[in-house]
Amino acid sequence: MRRLPVIRRPKAGNAARRIGAARPPGGASFAGTARLGAALLICALAAAGCHEGPADAAVVVLGGDPEVGRRLLDNYGCGECHAIPGVAGADSWAGPPLTEWAARRMIAGALPNTPENLMRFIMDPESVEPGTAMPDLGVDDVAARHMAAYLFTLEHDNPLGPPHPLPLRWLESLLPAGPRH
Ligand code: HEC
Repeated sequence: MRRLPVIRRPKAGNAARRIGAARPPGGASFAGTARLGAALLICALAAAGCHEGPADAAVVVLGGDPEVGRRLLDNYGCGECHAIPGVAGADSWAGPPLTEWAARRMIAGALPNTPENLMRFIMDPESVEPGTAMPDLGVDDVAARHMAAYLFTLEHDNPLGPPHPLPLRWLESLLPAGPRH
């Protein structure tokens, strides 16, 4: 499979995608759009064929600081309505849980789950889902970027359950073989 330019693997076994969330408004060229379309298609094919594909891995949101994002999620009271691992007191089920965010395919059932789209939804949920019960909390793009950075660190729970005493590589070799990316 062709390696996408947006996918970077700093270490074997630790697939992290680097995605620049910044994009000039209205500035996407046709070539850019076509490339994005091709990239999404490849991602969709990869996700369909392989449960452990890139969609389950943590995503690095450029310019976002996950630790700052974690505190902002707390400060803005997102946990009044959402369960968010790592955010104190964020255990409400008034809204959907934001657990394992990096493994999500869609945002509010309406948008593909990318950092750009997540920021847009956090800043202006109505524009994505008219009539949504998710309130507009006046989050600006700097704060939304940090929040997205944190949410995209929330990966699929390790099916083997951390911590475990055996080397992960060895345990992985026992799992049924499938396409690895
Ligand atoms: C008053 C309750 C409430 C608060 C506060 C709230 N949300 Fe939500 N949120 C919701 C509801 C309800 C939905 C479901 C909306 C829908 O699907 O249309 C939602 C949906 C979402 C989703 C999409 C979830 C999914 O499964 O697709 C994200 C992401 C999200 N909220 C993030 C946040 C963040 C970040 C904050 C804090 C800045 C926040 N929310 C504050 C109620 C809330």
